[in-house]
Amino acid sequence: MPAKGAIAEQQEAGIGYRRAMHSKNVGPVVTPLPKTFGAVLTDIRLAELDDEAFSSLCDAWLTYALLIFPGQYLTDAQQVLFAQKFGPLVEGVEAAELSNVKSDGSLRDAPDDDMMKIIRGNMHWHQDNTYMPVQAKGAVFSAKVVPPSNGGTAFADMRAAWAALDESTQFRLTSLVAHHSLVHSQQRLGEETKSEGSEYIGYGLDVKDAPLRPLVKRHPETGTPSLAVGRHAYGIPGLSADDSDRLISKLIKFAVEDETRVYQHSWAAGDVVLWDNRCLMHRACAWDYSEPRVMLHSRIAGDPRTESAQPTAH
Ligand SMILES: [Fe+2]
Repeated sequence: MPAKGAIAEQQEAGIGYRRAMHSKNVGPVVTPLPKTFGAVLTDIRLAELDDEAFSSLCDAWLTYALLIFPGQYLTDAQQVLFAQKFGPLVEGVEAAELSNVKSDGSLRDAPDDDMMKIIRGNMHWHQDNTYMPVQAKGAVFSAKVVPPSNGGTAFADMRAAWAALDESTQFRLTSLVAHHSLVHSQQRLGEETKSEGSEYIGYGLDVKDAPLRPLVKRHPETGTPSLAVGRHAYGIPGLSADDSDRLISKLIKFAVEDETRVYQHSWAAGDVVLWDNRCLMHRACAWDYSEPRVMLHSRIAGDPRTESAQPTAH
């Protein structure tokens, strides 16, 4: 699908959505990003959603995959309640603070700080929990403290990336799967966490058999196919380790090389975003670590019927 057409479709969807909502004389105002995905929603209070507003929000989420809500200032409890509307949350990641600020208020600056190793690892394109038996459905992510510059979060539309691949590449990828591992992806970056005495809770590091996932994922609710790669993917069966790495790197590069498929959000404190992890990649962007940055992440669990990895042979 040509990028321009995809953007026009998305703008049209936004206008239609706005008209539908306004005819009922209720918010929110939906402003699509000038991209193949994503929309900014205003005139809405996430802490006070009724069932009708939530249902409309679900539709918008499936259409745009990334919803941005400026100035919400949710409490932790309000964020968890909002995220739970989309399904059960991942145990241990219901309200995870992703931050370079320690509990005593000092900043993390040691090169071997395990939390920073994970944060730095997540500056590479990925989808959450693909290294777990069930990948995540999505996430609610909000900003509490933001640095004066940088420290954004970037997203990539993997539906548009798949649609932009030529047919022969699509055909080849349809039969391929890849292993996914957080241990492997951290090792590859030289960012292994300490085996003992780590401050990182170890989430995702104790998975025994790296899950296998197809390189194309069909969205369980919309049926739209998307390219499913990211930093945790490696070891495509049937390819050498090098060929596999080369192919995965090439596909990630292809996905993000067209700027209409990528959006980088510059955070303001109080912003909330909701993303669909079943069709978007994302990554954190670096900032000056002498400045505090405090984010709150609520991870929505995937449906085991559609987000489970393939069984691995033993
Ligand atoms: Fe992530």
